[in-house]
Amino acid sequence: MAEKPIVILPDPKLRLVSEPIAAITDEVRALARDMFDSMYAANGIGLAAIQIGVPKRLVVCDLGKGPKAETEDEEKQREPDPQVFVNPEIVWRSDELNIYEEGCLSIPDYTEEVERPARVRFRYLTLDGEPREVEAEGLLSICIQHEVDHLDGKLFIDHLSRLKRDRVTRKFAKAAKRDAAGA
Ligand code: NI
Repeated sequence: MAEKPIVILPDPKLRLVSEPIAAITDEVRALARDMFDSMYAANGIGLAAIQIGVPKRLVVCDLGKGPKAETEDEEKQREPDPQVFVNPEIVWRSDELNIYEEGCLSIPDYTEEVERPARVRFRYLTLDGEPREVEAEGLLSICIQHEVDHLDGKLFIDHLSRLKRDRVTRKFAKAAKRDAAGA
């Protein structure tokens, strides 16, 4: 178990463009494990490597775990469904759009409705180096678009109005300053 601290807005690391993974080594597999540990500990459903400070094009998600079920019985029936995407790349986006209330572990306790293409097709490598191409809709479509944004240094607040984005950015900048002052 190697849970890492999550990088929080306004840390400039979140604006880095992550590097492609050239070879799937033990180090990459260990990074994926650390990402799952960190994501589960924070109750997230998706995580990009940069969110634990590593600028590599690696994404994990587990949509079996979230969003949280309505009742405790339903919650118990949900199976974990860990998925790893190496070098994910969106190759097609539907014209049809969808609105979903998104959040991000790097912007804790903040959610807002985001409009994105309803369906996407994306390519990636599995952790065994197998190339895959899948068409996604629903939560997987939202998750992969949100996480690929992270790999390009983008955040879901970049899809909001400037007014909303500035408001949340200021709030987190102030909080970071307060933390740095030890108050
Ligand atoms: Ni995020």
